[in-house]
Amino acid sequence: MSKNHQKVVLVGDGQVGSAYAYALVQQGLAEELAIVNLSKEHAEGDALDLEDATVFTAPKQVYQADYNACADADLVVICAGAAQKPGETRLDLVEKNLKIMEQITKSIMATGFDGILLLATNPVDILTYAVQKISGLPTNRVISSGTSLDSARLRIALAKKLEVSPLDISANIMAEHGDSEFAAYSSATVGGKPLLQICEERGISNDELLKIEDDVRHKAYEIINRKGFTAYGVATCIMRITRAILRDENAVLPVGAYVDGEYGIKDNYLGTPAVINASGVSKVIEVPLNERESEAMAKSSEALKKVATDGMT
Ligand code: LAC
Repeated sequence: MSKNHQKVVLVGDGQVGSAYAYALVQQGLAEELAIVNLSKEHAEGDALDLEDATVFTAPKQVYQADYNACADADLVVICAGAAQKPGETRLDLVEKNLKIMEQITKSIMATGFDGILLLATNPVDILTYAVQKISGLPTNRVISSGTSLDSARLRIALAKKLEVSPLDISANIMAEHGDSEFAAYSSATVGGKPLLQICEERGISNDELLKIEDDVRHKAYEIINRKGFTAYGVATCIMRITRAILRDENAVLPVGAYVDGEYGIKDNYLGTPAVINASGVSKVIEVPLNERESEAMAKSSEALKKVATDGMT
């Protein structure tokens, strides 16, 4: 990855993709952003619109492209695919989005792309597993937004409960980005102090923590039921992961990473903290889990594998 000219290709310029592109422009990340989209005209319009914003942020080439733009890209971010509708779960999307991901991945790899793939399309864990297999790229170079958004939601909910800035709360949602996710409360800290110890001191019950976990698990539905989709949260998460890659940050982020042995789980993609740098996932951080959390991790992994198997048959 060249330090002085970094190129990102966005595949899928819908609500999430466009919000991600805008976040990239706002942050001044990458010198070149190519947008691949089913509707070329829409991508052209978005690129022209985003170009106007670069005057106030950082010089950047933003343009509509076809898959050939992937050939020399450092990072390809995939946001394309059908989005959840009110009443749908993320897993309901598996069949139609697996087909879309297969076509997209083959189109990207046909260009000789040899960089990092970052996915946000749901069901993101299953799709990332499939994309890694189809692409043949090393597992550390195929990553997803995973439970980064869910972990952000957890930190916001805990911050409100504890009247502490979310920036000072370290807490992870793990496993599926979806209905089988769980909060790893046993390793969460507030200003370095164990969260569970603070909750005990403040009389915050386990039931209240389980309610927060459930509210986080369902927050996307609350948003989708009101505005029809979610975009800003997940777009900012994939922008944050992009920044860690492009700036070689060694940032520890709760992403969708390949797990093979960690947590006693083999050969799967799950939400877990990992060290992110220019190589992609440089290391999975295996967070200590208590019995409830270990069981939830295993259950989530099995649920994903079952849906993936059914979806691929
Ligand atoms: C959400 C979508 C990105 O959780 O799955 O908002």
